[in-house]
Amino acid sequence: MGALIIGGLAKIYGKGASACRAVDGLSLNLPQGTVLGLLGPNGSGKTTTVKCAASILDYDGGSIAFDGLDPRRNRARYLSRLGAVLEGARNVHWRLGARENMEYFAGLRGMGRKDARGRAAELAARLGLEPVMNTLVGRLSRGNQQRVALACALMHRPQLLLLDEPTLGLDVGSVEAVRSLIPALARDGAAVLVTSHDMHLIEAVCDKVAVVRSGAVIADGSPASLRALFGAHSLRVRVPASGAERMSGMLPGAVRSEDEDGHALFSMQADSATAALELAAAVHRAGVPVADVELGRPSLEDAFKQLVAGQPAKETAR
Ligand SMILES: Nc1ncnc2c1ncn2[C@@H]1O[C@H](COP(=O)(O)OP(=O)(O)OP(=O)(O)O)[C@@H](O)[C@H]1O
Ligand SMILES: [Mg+2]
Repeated sequence: MGALIIGGLAKIYGKGASACRAVDGLSLNLPQGTVLGLLGPNGSGKTTTVKCAASILDYDGGSIAFDGLDPRRNRARYLSRLGAVLEGARNVHWRLGARENMEYFAGLRGMGRKDARGRAAELAARLGLEPVMNTLVGRLSRGNQQRVALACALMHRPQLLLLDEPTLGLDVGSVEAVRSLIPALARDGAAVLVTSHDMHLIEAVCDKVAVVRSGAVIADGSPASLRALFGAHSLRVRVPASGAERMSGMLPGAVRSEDEDGHALFSMQADSATAALELAAAVHRAGVPVADVELGRPSLEDAFKQLVAGQPAKETAR
């Protein structure tokens, strides 16, 4: 079975003093039939990686191969296996209808008319596009435009699918359509790489997640293994901003994020529920005014925040 294998990828934008190392030694392995999520803060190099893997951007170091094909050396064969929907880009023609777009892109991929018509009908049904197949894409809602872009990328049944923030700005119904489609594509045998800031989407569709920071993968694994990386239990304490400094001093492993209403939220993980309770009790004993406290299981977002903040995971902390 084929796989997308990226090894030590490097991409530098610009030259000299203004050079930006957008991707800096990023490696990942995405087998066919699975979904890999790329999670990372703004500017961490996700889109740049996707563009390199889509062969629309050349890179400065490392290697990319899908099913043994190198996009530099076997460009046509590599592209014939690839479908991509890029972040914020106009992936489709606005002056063509939805059906026309799908058939146009299928034609570019060498599909015959009859095959393309059948496939367009199939994808329209799957993506809920039937009512708008004859509407100009420029007149469609953002969600339907994104569905058309997805349909166009899927027309030639790609084995490798790259989706950069596929649900950005979509309403609940459109997000649901994308969310149910992604695992179905993997079940059909595709290798799917998806980037998103939507943790719920990532948790719902990904077999594996790679966390990217400063152009490199700093942790990877199943969503469940990442959630438990810093301990199986979580404690969240919300304190008025005036108490935040004392909290930071008391709980060096806690990650602070700001709330809207003058409160600071501290999230931390512990190995047991008792240990989490003890942390809460210590905060209470120290006399920090507490607005809210919540004990539970760590979310993917908790683990992500810890990773990006540079906290050592349990394995490396020992
Ligand atoms: N065309 C460009 N020229 C110069 N620098 C760029 C260019 N595109 C991206 N960068 C820089 O490269 C870095 C990585 O950007 P990239 O878009 O890959 O990040 P990202 O992880 O996709 O971020 P986001 O979550 O905001 O989409 C950033 O510092 C960005 O400013
Ligand atoms: Mg991006």
